[in-house]
Amino acid sequence: MQTQKIKSMLLQIGKYALPIIVFCVVTACKNKNTYSESDQKIADESTEEELYRPNFHFTPKENWINDPNGMFFYNGYYHLYFQYHPEGNKWGPMHWGHAISTDMITWREQPIALYPDELGYIFSGSAVVDVNNTSGFGKEGQSPVVAIYTSHDPQKAKNERIDVETQSIAYSFDEGLTWNKYEVNPVIENPNLRDFRDPKVIWDVDNNQWVLTLAAGQKTMFYTSNNLKEWNLASEFGDGLGNHEGVWECPDLFPMQVEDSDEIKWVHIVSIGSGGPNGGSATQYFVGDFDGQNFIVDPEFAMAMNKEHDFWVDFGKDNYAGVTWSNIPDSDGRRLFISWMSNWQYANEVPTEKWRGSMTIARELKLTKEDTYRLKVLPVREAQNYRTVKFKDESVHVANSTKLIDSKKIDLTKSEVNLEISDVNGKSFSLILRNNKNEKLLFGYDASKKAFYIDRGQSGKVGFSEDFGDKTSWAPRISEEEKLTLKILLDKTSIELFFDEGRTVMTEIFFPSEPFNSLTIETENQDLMLDSIEIHELKN
Ligand code: FRU
Repeated sequence: MQTQKIKSMLLQIGKYALPIIVFCVVTACKNKNTYSESDQKIADESTEEELYRPNFHFTPKENWINDPNGMFFYNGYYHLYFQYHPEGNKWGPMHWGHAISTDMITWREQPIALYPDELGYIFSGSAVVDVNNTSGFGKEGQSPVVAIYTSHDPQKAKNERIDVETQSIAYSFDEGLTWNKYEVNPVIENPNLRDFRDPKVIWDVDNNQWVLTLAAGQKTMFYTSNNLKEWNLASEFGDGLGNHEGVWECPDLFPMQVEDSDEIKWVHIVSIGSGGPNGGSATQYFVGDFDGQNFIVDPEFAMAMNKEHDFWVDFGKDNYAGVTWSNIPDSDGRRLFISWMSNWQYANEVPTEKWRGSMTIARELKLTKEDTYRLKVLPVREAQNYRTVKFKDESVHVANSTKLIDSKKIDLTKSEVNLEISDVNGKSFSLILRNNKNEKLLFGYDASKKAFYIDRGQSGKVGFSEDFGDKTSWAPRISEEEKLTLKILLDKTSIELFFDEGRTVMTEIFFPSEPFNSLTIETENQDLMLDSIEIHELKN
């Protein structure tokens, strides 16, 4: 009897014990799994942060970005909005993200500025400070900031309709932090064109009017307005001019004083989605005159462009959709420009997870007249305020291979290198950034082609897209000078090359599996004189 009781008790315990034990084991395993998975995740994320989060280029805290949008300067702050998908690390329903800066180098991300609405996603566009309250949005003497953007209706796009894109406006009373959408949007209806987007507005001082340029298929269209709400089509531009291998996007139009003269010329910037000088997306420009209605390309410029279309803001693969800031005070007077540092060929695939996409360094544009009118592009001078440790050498004689610097002296993942090289004609050289895994990024000058190049084929992770690492990018040397100057900006995942005072520019991204830690220069069978080399480490 007693034994019977004990047996049945044990059975009872067993009945509950088994599930309890199973539960404990499963829970423990599950917890272990969760811990190890999240540990793994954190490790990956921190490696990604450590290895790929740029030191001094803007990236969002998380998720996808593309084009810079709506840039204006107001009360001491530079505003930068951007195409943003807050729900994922690939392109998706577009919002305008927002960041502010006092110097265009250090950016502080702000809350999302514009959300999709019943008219669609918020595509690229611009913003102006309506100082004279021409729009009437202003209240109590306050100047509104007005954003002009494309509403892109995804439903219509899905249904393969043509009238997918219209132009809308929004206004802000708190310097662009929060926005009210205009009740009678859109302000420009679709004229039966599938690609009809990216409005960029400027104040045309001479004609006392707002001028809007937007991209329409493979041309641009100009509209004028007195109040930012009602727009009249003034003219179209682009037939037979420039590169037409891709859809035109993100145009800009602005006057510039030609360097060392009183002459004013208008510059028309047009990005193209594909067909750039090294494949994929790139940004071309035209120089001419604008009479308040029509943009006419300068005849000499048109001739030069016909002969050889080398009028690209940047010849590297990763400079796209760049436009200029509005409302820069006359006392400053600069034309300030920033671009998305990627290429539609592989933007959705680049090997970062937490965020995807970054901006270039902000740049100043200058217009010069040499063989014809040409843009010169250099980093904004504010970047110099970030210089810390400096290394300088003069009259360095290069034969074969010479190491210029390594990371014991200067952290090359946040650095600016300035080189002056004499007597470069007829001589080729390569600069090589390397890490301990012998991954390398090569760039330099090939005298036989009279061209600069970047070769990122062995720079680390390149296999995520066949358009990324399989070829070298080339850029013609535009200057005829004997002496060559080169400014190099290096971050963890980007190189920006400014040759000949910004006459030829190349920007590319790369993803090494360890930071590059040495810089070497090599020549082939010829000696080369480096008149000077000056390297600065930059503060984050
Ligand atoms: C350029 C672009 C624009 C468009 C936006 C959408 O990169 O295609 O034409 O407004 O991106 O995100």
